[in-house]
Amino acid sequence: MSRVGVTASISIITLAVYCAWDPFDHSVVSEYRREFEAHKVEFPAWSEVRMVRDVENRLVRGSERRFVGEVQGPESIAFDGLGRGPYTGVADGRVVFWNGRAWADFAYTSSNRSEELCSRKAEIMSYRENEHTCGRPLGLRFHKKTGDLYIADAYFGLMKVGPEGGLATCLTDEAEGVPLTFTNDLDLDDEGNVYFTDSSTRHQRRNFLQVIYSGDNSGRLLKYNSTTKETTVLMKNLQFPNGVSMSKDKSFFLFCEGVIGRLRRYWLKGEKAGTSEVFAILPGFPDNVRTNEKGEFWVAIHTRRSMYTYICGIFPRLRKFLLKLPIPLRVHQIINRSYKQPAIVVKYSSEGELLEILEDSEGQVVRTVSEVEENDGKLWFGSVLMSFIAVHKLE
Ligand SMILES: *[C@@H]1O[C@H](CO)[C@@H](O)[C@H](O)[C@H]1NC(C)=O
Ligand SMILES: *[C@@H]1O[C@H](CO)[C@@H](O)[C@H](O)[C@H]1NC(C)=O
Ligand SMILES: *[C@@H]1O[C@H](CO)[C@@H](O)[C@H](O)[C@H]1NC(C)=O
Repeated sequence: MSRVGVTASISIITLAVYCAWDPFDHSVVSEYRREFEAHKVEFPAWSEVRMVRDVENRLVRGSERRFVGEVQGPESIAFDGLGRGPYTGVADGRVVFWNGRAWADFAYTSSNRSEELCSRKAEIMSYRENEHTCGRPLGLRFHKKTGDLYIADAYFGLMKVGPEGGLATCLTDEAEGVPLTFTNDLDLDDEGNVYFTDSSTRHQRRNFLQVIYSGDNSGRLLKYNSTTKETTVLMKNLQFPNGVSMSKDKSFFLFCEGVIGRLRRYWLKGEKAGTSEVFAILPGFPDNVRTNEKGEFWVAIHTRRSMYTYICGIFPRLRKFLLKLPIPLRVHQIINRSYKQPAIVVKYSSEGELLEILEDSEGQVVRTVSEVEENDGKLWFGSVLMSFIAVHKLE
């Protein structure tokens, strides 16, 4: 072999060993190493997806960032029966309340909170280390009649706290003998029956990247019966079930399928009660869904679909191979175009017709949205990744 041939062979072998070994843990799944499994994602055919866009970026105008640096990772936003708020759950495990002048502590979910463990951190991702002790309130909903706040805490399950706040009590932390592992969002009817999601029974929220990358299929849709206090499984083997929202007439509720990028409708009344069907195929991957007074649904989209995510979804072995390469997070984000942290929100009618798409595609004002709450002629945007709440005035 020539000298060039030898050098080339050695380089290729070294590169292959480097890629397979990933000595500096650059791979985005290096934390999970051997346990990392990639499941197929049953994406709708590419041709079925309507890749709608807001070319005018209408979220940029009429929006502002509020409470900058005062709330970290405010995922869900709620207003109480008297219209006060917002209330939001933040990364250090508290539910806080805007009293019109300042943020006040309202409730917490863990009896073991300590200043030492749960105090303020510079990076939102750093809270992951202790959130199983500090609590992580995600979905929030008020029962308008009783004034109770219902909380989906990622670690402590389905919880409730009275109108005065304080330490929330646990309604359930298991369903049919299987512990809740990643309680995510909820909605309730007038009798206090709760419909909620457990995003994964394998991975906790601190490993949410693994839930996404692996296409984990152990999520569940659940019902808590307020009379019997029992929790039953309505659907299982779901891929990252997330946001939940009742319809205005309470005949059905919607839930988000985070990894597939769909809204599903679960019927509660009528002939189809107890069955579910696809309600809408979204232009991207959703977090929460919320209704407005008209009964329309606002959906927060984390990342837009792309041919890259489509191919990685339907070919799990290729995805596993790519994710195990020593390619840092940033590069994946550049490839799948999530690095600019764009804000994308869509509105559907109560019948599943796409009514509106609003974007800030460069994240100039509004960034990566987890939830859209329409209140008082404004859209309030929660975000699990940001340290502010963005507000958009509707025209
Ligand atoms: C609080 O800490 C105690 C002692 O370490 C532990 O037994 C208990 O499970 C913890 N409770 C919660 C809610 O984390
Ligand atoms: C709750 O359980 C009671 C008693 O079994 C039943 O009558 C009621 O319909 C249940 N409610 C819901 C919402 O499933
Ligand atoms: C895009 O990549 C980032 C970083 O790897 C990840 O957090 C995000 O979930 C990805 N989005 C999709 C849709 O795959």
